[in-house]
Amino acid sequence: MKEIPVIIFGVGGVGRTLVQQIIDTRAAIAQSNALRFKVVALVDSRQWFFVPEGLSDSELTTAIQRKEAGQPLGGSERPSAEKLISMVAAAGVENAVVVDVTATDGMEPAIDLALEKGYGIALANKKPHAGPWSSAQKYYGNPAVRHESTVGGGEPIIASLRYLSDIHDTFFSCEGQLSGTLGFMCRELEKGRPFSAALGSAMELGYTEPDPRDDLSGEDVMRKVLIMGRMAGWQLEQSDFEVESLYDADLADCSVAEFVEKAGQMDAGLAKRFADAKAAGKVLRYVGRVTAEGGKVGLMELDANSPMANLKYIQFHTKLYDAEPLMIIGAGAGLEMTAGGVLGDMISLAREAL
Ligand SMILES: NC(=O)c1ccc[n+]([C@@H]2O[C@H](COP(=O)([O-])OP(=O)(O)OC[C@H]3O[C@@H](n4cnc5c(N)ncnc54)[C@H](OP(=O)(O)O)[C@@H]3O)[C@@H](O)[C@H]2O)c1
Repeated sequence: MKEIPVIIFGVGGVGRTLVQQIIDTRAAIAQSNALRFKVVALVDSRQWFFVPEGLSDSELTTAIQRKEAGQPLGGSERPSAEKLISMVAAAGVENAVVVDVTATDGMEPAIDLALEKGYGIALANKKPHAGPWSSAQKYYGNPAVRHESTVGGGEPIIASLRYLSDIHDTFFSCEGQLSGTLGFMCRELEKGRPFSAALGSAMELGYTEPDPRDDLSGEDVMRKVLIMGRMAGWQLEQSDFEVESLYDADLADCSVAEFVEKAGQMDAGLAKRFADAKAAGKVLRYVGRVTAEGGKVGLMELDANSPMANLKYIQFHTKLYDAEPLMIIGAGAGLEMTAGGVLGDMISLAREAL
């Protein structure tokens, strides 16, 4: 039985679901892959547990239950991510997987140090892959770095891009509806609901980030499309993207409460755009598209009867898939699928890179 130490950064929705999946699949993964994941460190923004021999399943369960209930993780005050990797390595932990299921900036020094120590990396955090090419380049095509859940919430998007680039297919474009939240908003606006009312429902249903501007700005979609473009072989930067935000620039800096209160100022403009599209037999969808030249992220008109208008799709238009693009369709969101993508990466790393 191969024992793989695991260091998990992030104990939010995805992190907690991943910990539960590690526990729930323990016996099956031991049987199918002769592997056992041993969580040696569990880290949130403030605290951490470090147990070189591995936290027990009951300790893990208690920790995720505390976080679920909004309590502190427990454990001790945490050092910086880089220091933490040094401490784990100094304790003799070898061939570990570092999991980044945070949404935080600045993880690169810790990831780089972990790679130097011979660890594998599995990320749902898009920021390291979407940073400046000069720092992100080393993560692409690196067998020790896996990031299936950065795009498509666990659907095999990165795996498909890797397969197409492995066989030297030529990419023409990658495109898709990459945000469940913005997909919901578009469908509500299409029914004639005001933007502010649709936003209220999206927030109530828990579809948005705590600050809904994180979804509405389109920046998160842009990061996903940038990652797809880079996987397709294009050395693009964020500045190569035109990104349409669904809120007015004067609401960028106010509090969340004030933003929600003033969201009605976007109602009339967006209602007119959706009504005009409808009159022309079209629908508006929030789509991201990238080619070798750059990308565009924003509301795009699609034929109302086209399959793409009604599906959450991601498609690759390549030399092999020219007349009929390769399309992947599915929910592509949600904690179980996203955590499943990370678990799949951990298994691949254990099998192929450690
Ligand atoms: N939710 C989804 O369906 C989905 C789908 C695809 C991809 N993703 C990606 O998966 C990642 C996690 O999403 P989520 O929904 O789980 O987010 P979340 O609920 O906001 O959780 C984020 C976690 O990261 C922790 N954190 C923040 N800074 C940290 C640091 N420097 N070191 C260690 N931990 C830190 C937070 O700590 P505290 O608890 O102390 O605040 C929290 O536990 C994000 O990058 C997201 O974009 C999510």
